[in-house]
Amino acid sequence: MAALQQSTLKIVLGIESSCDETAVALVRADGQVLAERIASQDAEHRPFGGVVPELAARAHAERLAPMLKAVLLEAGVAIADVDAIAATAGPGLVGGVMVGLVTGKALAFAADKPLYGINHLEGHALSPRLVAPGLGFPYLLLLVSGGHCQLIAVEGVGRYRRLATTIDDAAGEAFDKVAKMLGLGFPGGPAVERAAALGNPKAVPLPRPLVGSGEPHFSFAGLKTAVLRAVQSGLHAPEDIAASFQAAVTDCLADRTRIAIHAMPEATALVVAGGVAANSAVRMALEAVASAHALPFIAPPLKLCTDNAAMIGWAALERMAAGLAPESDPQARPRWPLDPSAEPVRGAGVKA
Ligand code: KG4
Ligand code: ZN
Repeated sequence: MAALQQSTLKIVLGIESSCDETAVALVRADGQVLAERIASQDAEHRPFGGVVPELAARAHAERLAPMLKAVLLEAGVAIADVDAIAATAGPGLVGGVMVGLVTGKALAFAADKPLYGINHLEGHALSPRLVAPGLGFPYLLLLVSGGHCQLIAVEGVGRYRRLATTIDDAAGEAFDKVAKMLGLGFPGGPAVERAAALGNPKAVPLPRPLVGSGEPHFSFAGLKTAVLRAVQSGLHAPEDIAASFQAAVTDCLADRTRIAIHAMPEATALVVAGGVAANSAVRMALEAVASAHALPFIAPPLKLCTDNAAMIGWAALERMAAGLAPESDPQARPRWPLDPSAEPVRGAGVKA
């Protein structure tokens, strides 16, 4: 574990509520997660085939307080003993973000602790350092989740340079939509991966948008449309469609990552984070790309890839160790780019 340079080991209480996972964690500066709880809302959203923002906010509001109590009790830590409270302040579904952030503010006020409003994407970006001893800056990060698909040069804590983003959909969103088209249920990514394991990835010819174009960005809308046509044709088994789709997404991610490696020769490692990093075909392809460029490949354990609160607490610990003061009275932000100076690209930024 990457112990941060601090005189005593600080402890942060992290809260995450930006999408459909309610999560709380107590994290220490030596990378120990003292206790954590993650409650998924799959059952609430399943009947709708996607995350319903209003239901998500209500579920966060119902669950957060008991989870906070449980985590403190399990770790044997009193709120007075934590050094700071960290809550996701965006980007995400703003109702849910407000529930977590306001809870964090109230706790911080009552216990007289600093409050860090954390960018959820920074949580993902720094999470590999929670588990990878010696992962230093700068590294190349592929952040692939339901709302994001970006390649980022992580130059230091709070220093992120966006190298590529999606011009339409995020990769995880494409997995979710394809799962819906195939009637595989919700959440989509794991369902598509399970179906793909039973299919032939070469059975259905599908496009690899932008591959070979020299353009650094991602695009998945055309691939999604091609999958819809394949489904409607009735010519293919769902497993073959799932396998062929997963292969196409994997090829796109690997190809764009290759371009980014060339654009960032100073990178010391290739790191992947976000929910889609839980996909084993994606991991294997990225590992091959990294090894072809003699770069170490770092993928956090699955639990840290999808949304969690340990990464939010950890991001605050990183900020404390880097001497970055928390913003006073942070507000919930539906959009919050990691690299505010990045040029907008066609269609991007539609999703939080
Ligand atoms: O990071 P995350 O938990 O939440 C966001 O911030 O978006 O990512 C969730 C996304 C969903 O789109 C989900 O379908 C996808 O990650 N995902 C997967 C897998 N597990 C989760 N996609 C492909 N294969 C998986 N095994
Ligand atoms: Zn996320």
